[in-house]
Amino acid sequence: MIIKKAVIPAAGFGTRFLPTTKAMPKEMINIVDRPAIQYVVEEAVDSGIEEILIIISRNKEMIINHFDETPELDQVLSNKDDKSLLKISKDLASKVKIYYVRQGDAKGLGHAIYCAKGFANNEPFAVLLPDDIIDSDVPVIKQLIESYERHEGTILGVQPVPKADLSKYGIVAGEKIENDDMLVSGMIEKPKIEEAPSDYAILGRYILNPSIFEMIEKTPPGKGGEIQLTDAILLQKDVENVYASVFSGVRYDTGDKLGYLKATVNFAMKHPTLSDPFKRYLEKVDLD
Ligand code: UTP
Repeated sequence: MIIKKAVIPAAGFGTRFLPTTKAMPKEMINIVDRPAIQYVVEEAVDSGIEEILIIISRNKEMIINHFDETPELDQVLSNKDDKSLLKISKDLASKVKIYYVRQGDAKGLGHAIYCAKGFANNEPFAVLLPDDIIDSDVPVIKQLIESYERHEGTILGVQPVPKADLSKYGIVAGEKIENDDMLVSGMIEKPKIEEAPSDYAILGRYILNPSIFEMIEKTPPGKGGEIQLTDAILLQKDVENVYASVFSGVRYDTGDKLGYLKATVNFAMKHPTLSDPFKRYLEKVDLD
């Protein structure tokens, strides 16, 4: 089964980024020269995804506007004969179809994914959390699609995290099989260090088999009345194999202020025209 659809849940409140996120979606916060969500859409496109559903909520219209066509802007750029800017503005739109659905009430990630049931149309699909921006040679969703081709089961993108950070993530238990894949036997959401079954954390990338929707229907609300995606995947694991795949790349949590700053420095250092002047500037910064 070839994976051509992706879902990007972007309906959360972004409380860690207040007060910026009072009126502005955190997904639209700029990282060097593009809003955060564009990095994730580009990752999907570079992985062969052809259709994307973005789950939005009230106050997120800016995301729709960002990916919309811009005939007036195109005209201005074309009058100026600025083909490079014109290309940036038109490129993504020509490569992928983007759809939107509103999650009326933010009742958790599992509930947000359920909004994609019609879009998925009983096919497996990729999920990319837009807070997690990953700098990698091979796009991470492409790495997970390759793992899906080996197993045809739900795939959780994981990486080892330091012990001190285990309590921030969903941690998987499982046995190593082939390549960098694991057969998942359990999962604990935000465990205490001593209860963590491994140091492999789920970091914002998934391929989900469509039976996930039936599992979400059966998932009772958990903490804060939210329907957790990890609870639904645990139910799915009881009826079919679920795998974890260790992906390569450096992941930044851009929903967090420090993670956002690190991502900004990293991508500025790699930017084709900004990197040299930015490095020269950093050498002069007084760190004391
Ligand atoms: P988070 O809980 O990390 O994001 O959800 P948040 O709620 O937006 O941010 P904080 O923690 O308050 O700062 C992980 C992802 O799931 C989406 C979020 O938009 C984010 O991309 N999400 C979460 C939804 O789409 N709907 C929900 O009901 C909950």
